[in-house]
Amino acid sequence: MHDKHIVVGVTGGIAAYKACALVSKLTQKGAQVKVVMTSHAAEFVKPLTFQALSRQPVYTDTFDEKDPEKIAHIDVADWADIVILAPATANILGKLANGIGDDMLSTVLLATQADVYIAPAMNVHMYAHPAVMANMKTLEERGCNFIEPGAGYLACGYVGKGRLEEPESIIETIERHQAAEQNLYGKTVLITAGPTREAVDPVRFFSNRSSGKMGFRLAETAAQRGAKVILICGPVALSIQHKNIERIDVTTAEEMYEAVHKRFEEADIVIKAAAVADYRPKNILEQKLKKQPGDFQVEMERTKDILMSLGERKQDQYIVGFAAETNDPLENGKDKLKRKNLDAIVVNDVTETGAGFQGDTNKAIFINKLLQEEHMPLTSKQEMANHILSLVVRDLEEAAM
Ligand code: CTP
Repeated sequence: MHDKHIVVGVTGGIAAYKACALVSKLTQKGAQVKVVMTSHAAEFVKPLTFQALSRQPVYTDTFDEKDPEKIAHIDVADWADIVILAPATANILGKLANGIGDDMLSTVLLATQADVYIAPAMNVHMYAHPAVMANMKTLEERGCNFIEPGAGYLACGYVGKGRLEEPESIIETIERHQAAEQNLYGKTVLITAGPTREAVDPVRFFSNRSSGKMGFRLAETAAQRGAKVILICGPVALSIQHKNIERIDVTTAEEMYEAVHKRFEEADIVIKAAAVADYRPKNILEQKLKKQPGDFQVEMERTKDILMSLGERKQDQYIVGFAAETNDPLENGKDKLKRKNLDAIVVNDVTETGAGFQGDTNKAIFINKLLQEEHMPLTSKQEMANHILSLVVRDLEEAAM
C-alpha cells in the first residue's frame, strides 16, 4: 500500500463509521488516501473526520470545483491506483452497474481506470434481492473485485449476511490481490474466447455452446496481474473493462485465425480458450434459403486449426490450449498437447456436472509439456483462471532458472 494513490468511496450506510478506521489504517501504511462521499454518507459521518484522518480534502459535491485548472471528478479518477468502495450500498451498486453518474462518487467510479474493490454492506434481504445480485454479477463480470460482507448481527436487527467486512480484512484482501497481480507485469498475453459462427446463409449459422466466460475470466485475471492483454473473442454476450485489456471482436474461425496471427509476435503467452468451429459450410448462400420439400444437406469443409498453426510458428511463446472431451480426457489431452506442440493444455471432461460450457464453474486438468498433471477441483471460473495463470507463471519461472 505504500505510496499508492487510493480513493475510498463512502456511501450512506451505518457501516460508514468503519470507513474511518479503513482510511486511518491505509494512511498509517503510507498510502495517500482521498475520500469521496455521497451526501447520504455525510449524514452518518462528517467529511471533516475523513479530512483529518486522510490529511486530504474530502470530495462530496461534483460542482464544488476548487481548482479552475482541473475538473475534480476526472482528476480524482485519474489520480487513483486503487478505488475502494466501502461501505457500498445497494444504491451505488445499482448506479455503477447501470452507468449512472449523478454525483461526485458515481462520476469518479465511471471515469476511473483504476482497480476497483467493492465491499458491500446492507440488510440481509436487500443483499439477497435478485436486482442487487444481478448488479453485483454485472460488476464482477466487468472486472470489479468484491470483498464479500460477513455474516452476523446487522444494525437493522437482523442476523445474516450483509455486515461490512472488517477494515483489517479489507486491506489484507487487497494487499494479497495486488501482490499476486504483479507476476505478469511486462508480459503480453493473447487470449481467445467464446465460440465462432459459420454462416449458412444471411440469417443462419453453425455455432456451439461456448459462452466465453472462461476466456473472459482469464483475460481479467491476467490484466489484474499486470499483463497487457489482447482478447480476441467470438460472438459473446459479455462485457469487460480494464485499462490493460484490448478487445477484438471476430465472428468466424477464419477471422479469428487472421486476428490471432496478426498479433501473435507481440505475445509472450497465448491462451486459446475459444471453441473454434472445426468445419464451416463450403458455400455460403447469398440469399436466405427457402424451404423445399424433402431433406436438405449442407456440405462442410475444414477450417484452419489456429492452435496447430501457432504451435508450428512459435518461437519462445508459452502456448496453452484447451480441450473439451467427452471420453478419455487425459489420453486425448496429452495427444493434443504433443500434436499441436503446446506448452500446456487444460482438459475439460464436459460430461461432468459443473464443468465446461456456459456455467460459472469448471473442473479441469492442467497438463504441461513435462506431462505434470494438476487436477483442478470444481470451482468458479474466476478461481480456475487464477489457478491456470499461477501454473503458467510457475512453468515460466522454472524455465528461466
Ligand atoms: N482450436 C483452434 N482452431 C480450430 C479448432 C480448435 O485453435 N480450428 C483450438 C481450441 O481453441 C482449443 C484447442 O484447439 O484450444 C482444442 O480444441 P478441440 O476442438 O477440443 O480439439 P481438436 O484439436 O479440434 O480435436 P478434436 O476435434 O479431435 O477433439
